[in-house]
Amino acid sequence: MQRQLHLNLFIHGRGHHEASWRHPTSSPLALTDIRYYQDLAQRAEAGLFDSIFLADQLALGNDVSQAPRTWLEPVTVLAAVAAATSRIGLIATCSTTYTEPFNLARQFGSLDHISNGRVGWNIVTSWLATAADNYGGAGQLSHADRYARAEEYVAVVKALWDSWAEDAVIDDRAGGSYARPDRIRPINFKGEHYQVAGPLNLPRTPQGRPVFVQAGSSDTGRRFAARHAEAVFTAHLEKATAQAFYADLKALTAAEDRAPEQVLILPGLSPMIGSTEAEARRLARETDELSDPEVGRKRLSGRFGGHDFSHLPLDRPLSPEDFPEPSSVEAARSRTEVILSLVRREKPTLRQLLGTLAGARGHFVFAGTPEQVADLIEEWFTDGAADGFNIMPPLLPSMLDVFSAEVIPLLQRRGLFRTAYAGTTLREHYGLPWPKSAFDTAALERA
Ligand SMILES: Cc1cc2nc3c(=O)[nH]c(=O)nc-3n(C[C@H](O)[C@H](O)[C@H](O)COP(=O)(O)O)c2cc1C
Repeated sequence: MQRQLHLNLFIHGRGHHEASWRHPTSSPLALTDIRYYQDLAQRAEAGLFDSIFLADQLALGNDVSQAPRTWLEPVTVLAAVAAATSRIGLIATCSTTYTEPFNLARQFGSLDHISNGRVGWNIVTSWLATAADNYGGAGQLSHADRYARAEEYVAVVKALWDSWAEDAVIDDRAGGSYARPDRIRPINFKGEHYQVAGPLNLPRTPQGRPVFVQAGSSDTGRRFAARHAEAVFTAHLEKATAQAFYADLKALTAAEDRAPEQVLILPGLSPMIGSTEAEARRLARETDELSDPEVGRKRLSGRFGGHDFSHLPLDRPLSPEDFPEPSSVEAARSRTEVILSLVRREKPTLRQLLGTLAGARGHFVFAGTPEQVADLIEEWFTDGAADGFNIMPPLLPSMLDVFSAEVIPLLQRRGLFRTAYAGTTLREHYGLPWPKSAFDTAALERA
């Protein structure tokens, strides 16, 4: 069968453009109204998307006066979205730095049961420096320490999800026997950071465990993804860097003795679509004009871990010396690399840079006709830059609707995208294998 694309809808605010919340075509619903998320997931399901995705941050942004940077807690939202949908995959972000593994294993295990096997976990270490102030106040862990901790964390939650054999529950009312005690076992994990006895207080989940999604693209992040991820979100402003990332991550995955096709690489794409190129550009310009460079300046500072950019004039060309060296950044390191390489390549003014980042925070932004968007998707897909895309509509729901109505049929006609769901789980949509239960093998190793 012809290789097919995977499409994830990244739901974020009223759209990914920084000024989307002010645009007349973005949703009139409050961002605290669950119907907003349920409705978007239903629209994406009607468009046959593989999945939807919710990001998460653990502190309020310092630009809330000019931008709606609040959101509902994603695990809670997904439970409500699961009840309002039946096929589409549901991915939520949860932090390895600020969540106990037992809590996370229960929450995502429960979601996998509630959704009948449609859940994915976006494994993040949380880059936002101010989050640390809300969790004990001991300051942010370094980039390296966060990933080291995440490594142990994944071992704990995997063991918890494997602590019940598939056949542990009998539920025999007549015989009075609910579960087989020999098919449930503690994990007795004692590591450097975590001590967890287990077992989980929840039977094995429909997918064995949630699909592992990862979104770190630094060297350390890539190695982590190569070991654990089954899908990877990544930000690129150029096809060439997406191709280099793709080749590197597939090679690192093979070096970990994993099949490269079992890690789907999904770069972000934020398409502004018009019936003509001129109309798409006009829409993009109209949205850009609603954005405020001072919001962008604050966000840039956040990406660089709080670095002060307030002295930089808006209209002189930037140079790399205006920024800290990415390897010294303990926050969103790989995104700072994306930004620095743009500065080296194009020498934009700060105003121009902030304009570019306002579109989709450093992901690929494109304005064009449905045909042009489909061409771009096909080109990245066939040229070794992507296995599919993390679709980030600049305006929600309007640009999602145009994408579903106009771009998806073109991709289907080219044989690049499904015309119906073949399975019911996220693993099936993504074409991923079922994780083997380590219950029996791990028991043997211990004996
Ligand atoms: C599409 C996408 C979504 C992300 N979502 C989150 C998120 O919700 N919360 C978070 O803390 N980091 C998020 N990140 C950031 C990464 O998980 C990672 O922490 C960050 O890129 C820094 O790690 P790195 O230097 O290895 O890339 C996201 C990244 C991408 C590309």
